[in-house]
Amino acid sequence: MRSRRAKRNLSFVVSCAVVLMIVSCTQAAPPLEITLIPAAERTPSRFTDPELAEGETQYNLLCAHCHGYNLEGQLAVTVPQTLNLGMHTVPPHDSTGHTWQHPDQLLIRVIREGIQNPLDQYVMPGFTDGVSDAQVNAILRYIKLSWTESQREHNRRVTEQWAEMDRLLGNAAAAETTPDATDESAQ
Ligand code: HEC
Repeated sequence: MRSRRAKRNLSFVVSCAVVLMIVSCTQAAPPLEITLIPAAERTPSRFTDPELAEGETQYNLLCAHCHGYNLEGQLAVTVPQTLNLGMHTVPPHDSTGHTWQHPDQLLIRVIREGIQNPLDQYVMPGFTDGVSDAQVNAILRYIKLSWTESQREHNRRVTEQWAEMDRLLGNAAAAETTPDATDESAQ
């Protein structure tokens, strides 16, 4: 007798829970409100050169959460956790990193295609749609500001050598798209 009542009570409780779950699921979640700061109220870029200002904006938007807002690499507080997992951290782009060692053609390819490396905790995505060639070049120009003059010189040299190799191999299209070794010191 008691067990039958207990069963009835239990099924009542279960039905209430199910009804509550259905009601809470069907109720629309409140819309997520994202307020963008109007352009006029944003902190103006420290660059007067529009390409560098664009490079900084795009870098902060697309890259900085992984490579650091000062190009210093992965956020320091998260580094021990990544290393404890035995994985690679996100490299810096400033003069302490190795970005400067590579020719622009490879840097552009990495930005466009990403790097699928299972050892990386935060995987480098490929940026294709929505990022123009001009924006990629602007980001690179902004990154180069944090290199030493001799690092920039090395990058210029390997970029020219890569272009020369493209020309020798008859890879005219690739040679044509070689970005200019622009004056990165202009701000
Ligand atoms: C989700 C995190 C993440 C984001 C976002 C990201 N990267 Fe990376 N990036 C990585 C990781 C991790 C590597 C190291 C990959 C490897 O070597 O295995 C890397 C490597 C690179 C490299 C090659 C390494 C070097 O220093 O030469 C370049 C260049 C690069 N990223 C540029 C960018 C740019 C530019 C952006 C923004 C447009 C960007 N990344 C956004 C995680 C990220």
